Amino acid sequence: MKIAFVGKGGSGKTTLSALFIRHLAAEGRPVIAVDADINQHLGPALGLTDDQAAALPSLGARLPEIKEYLRGSNPLIESPEAMIKTTPPGRGSRLLRIVEENPVYASCARPVALDEGSVRLLVTGTFTEEDLGVACYHSKVGAVELLLNHLIDGQDEYVVTDMTAGSDSFASGLFTRFDLTFLVAEPTRKGISVYRQYKEYARDFGVALRVIGNKVQSPEDLAFLRAEVGDDLLTTFGQSEWVRRLEQGAEPPLSSLEPANRAVLAELKSQADAAYATRDAQRYTSQAVHFHLRNAESWGNAKVGVDLARQVDPEFVLGEENGAQACAAAEAHA
Ligand SMILES: Nc1ncnc2c1ncn2[C@@H]1O[C@H](COP(=O)(O)OP(=O)(O)OP(=O)(O)O)[C@@H](O)[C@H]1O
Ligand SMILES: [Mg+2]
Repeated sequence: MKIAFVGKGGSGKTTLSALFIRHLAAEGRPVIAVDADINQHLGPALGLTDDQAAALPSLGARLPEIKEYLRGSNPLIESPEAMIKTTPPGRGSRLLRIVEENPVYASCARPVALDEGSVRLLVTGTFTEEDLGVACYHSKVGAVELLLNHLIDGQDEYVVTDMTAGSDSFASGLFTRFDLTFLVAEPTRKGISVYRQYKEYARDFGVALRVIGNKVQSPEDLAFLRAEVGDDLLTTFGQSEWVRRLEQGAEPPLSSLEPANRAVLAELKSQADAAYATRDAQRYTSQAVHFHLRNAESWGNAKVGVDLARQVDPEFVLGEENGAQACAAAEAHA
């Protein structure tokens, strides 16, 4: 299941995505954690020291090798250089699974041991001042789009992505690559305005969006969220002393999280699991193609110097039935 956490800066995306990841791991589920936010904080939120987090390999820096692997023997993609972030998989492409060893994970993912369970962590890499607002930023996040477009995930296995909700997310198709998007919103007008903007973009693509109210302290906070968000409000996470202790450098075990907040994590998991029933491989694939054609036309064709529309394999649909093929490809490579 592909799950995203989005929201305004400071709303609690990293806190809640890290807690959700820990909850899934504690339940024994396989999880890939992805940090795709401008502020790269997921590693530390999962317990890494700043030095360990700084030493993580970045997806952004490894795009050429990621492309080389995913391209496989797909005859429609001439070279890794001809692959852009939206290039969709086709026959011959190598696909990834959540639970497997492959060269992409070997190079880019790092295991993170949690108090209960462990996960694999992938990070886009830090964004320097000069990246912001220019192509580099998109290309780093583009690595995540490329991976998700080549990832086959079944029920009971998860990739959880900590994202930004700014307009940068809409520059590509990344925001449509999830089975479920959790929008974290504080009960404030600014928190809600980000929700409205996201919903507006998401509507045309049938993005499943649920709001998690965060730092909710009073009945008034809850009433505000209910009035502004309506049925999209899934649940609320309270102002948490446990989270505060964590921020102060303590390492409280997940089992000591306030019961009401732990129940919220269980609720998020039920929602994520329920999203499985609404999966539509055909739609997922055709949206990938849609964004590829859009990117090809707006900048890709000019940049690469070929007609990138020809990379689309009309016979290919990304779905769990491709799984056997993915395993075979990974084994062949190994
Ligand atoms: N439920 C909560 N209770 C108490 N403190 C919280 C809660 N949620 C988040 N915080 C605190 O709010 C601050 C911002 O949270 P967090 O870093 O998770 O937000 P973010 O949306 O990821 O921010 P950024 O946009 O900077 O990445 C942190 O100090 C965090 O500890
Ligand atoms: Mg964050």
